[in-house]
Amino acid sequence: MVAGVAGRVYLDYAATAPLRPQARARMVELLDQFGNPSSVHAEGQASRIVMDESRRRVADLMGVRAERVVFTSGGTEANNLALRGFMAKNSSKRLLVSAVEHDCVRNTGKVLGAGEIPVDSNGIVKLDWLQDALTAGGVGMVSVMHANNENGVVQPVQEIAAICKAAGVVFHTDAVQTVGHRPVDVDALGADMLSFAGHKFGGPKGVGVLIVKSELEMDAVLTGGGQERNRRAGTENLMAVAGMVAALEAAVSQMTDERKLAAQMKDYVGSELRELGLDFVGSRVDGVEHVIQVITPGMRGEDVVIGMDMRGVAVSQGSACGSGRVKESHVLQAIGYGELAGQAVRLSWGWASEMSDVMAGVRALGSVAGK
Ligand SMILES: Cc1ncc(COP(=O)(O)O)c(C=O)c1O
Repeated sequence: MVAGVAGRVYLDYAATAPLRPQARARMVELLDQFGNPSSVHAEGQASRIVMDESRRRVADLMGVRAERVVFTSGGTEANNLALRGFMAKNSSKRLLVSAVEHDCVRNTGKVLGAGEIPVDSNGIVKLDWLQDALTAGGVGMVSVMHANNENGVVQPVQEIAAICKAAGVVFHTDAVQTVGHRPVDVDALGADMLSFAGHKFGGPKGVGVLIVKSELEMDAVLTGGGQERNRRAGTENLMAVAGMVAALEAAVSQMTDERKLAAQMKDYVGSELRELGLDFVGSRVDGVEHVIQVITPGMRGEDVVIGMDMRGVAVSQGSACGSGRVKESHVLQAIGYGELAGQAVRLSWGWASEMSDVMAGVRALGSVAGK
């Protein structure tokens, strides 16, 4: 039984997922474990053991050595650390980020004077453009997300990594929408740095990870004590870290079944949308199984979200900024949707979703859209 608002259907997993029972149990277990992992006494050491064990388990699940795992306060901080941390040490070089990144990469990129890698009409990064930019020289780092948070489109990360590697450029990928949903092996992807966040796969909010190649030189963004091998200062959020790890283990062990069901849901929603005469973004390319972005011509996405909410179904426009306001999608603009960039809605599901949820979602969408 998942906590939530009774009688409602939750289809906004890409924004955040309900807590998995395994994460909840682990966090409850640790509620009273108050020792500071940096303290030398027994109380501290008990917490140090939890941190070390958590790090080792994340490392095993991601196919890396434990020393490469840096715990952060979430996806936003992991991405900030990757971009700001590396660029601080390499300020004479340029950063390139794709035009469809989450705001935490995009806006950080703007602060750092980053160039923007364009995408094609499917939302996929233009590899030729990237190749030319790297050949021209002066680029130190590239950041391209693994899967897009608005439409689920998966980028050819391995090819991007290979282009970067050949040019001696560091490659970071924001894997917040894939980790816990698809198998992610950092080295097989070829990423020098990879970020993810606990709350997207059933862990708690406010905790995430940046995986960093050991030899990569970077500055900390949060300076202070020497936690996280001097990469992220501050007393560790033990309970959240352990909760995230429990969620990740559950997500990985149940991934085959969960992914299969998510794919069935996507097939169902896709075919129902076609019946309704609605199109979804990225329908011709690989996309994560739990996200679909529907274009609602003539209807502002915001109004569709409100209409569906009134019918008991929680969805979103794709990305909400901190204030809760919704805006036109820069992702859809970059893909070339023009004025339709504000006329879209995202449905997303996950570990506790059932077929009846997506069926209710499609019904509500049809009703709002007057179909
Ligand atoms: C692709 C992507 N990157 C980064 C983030 C930010 O993660 P967090 O909410 O943990 O800061 C999100 C969350 O919406 C996301 O979808």
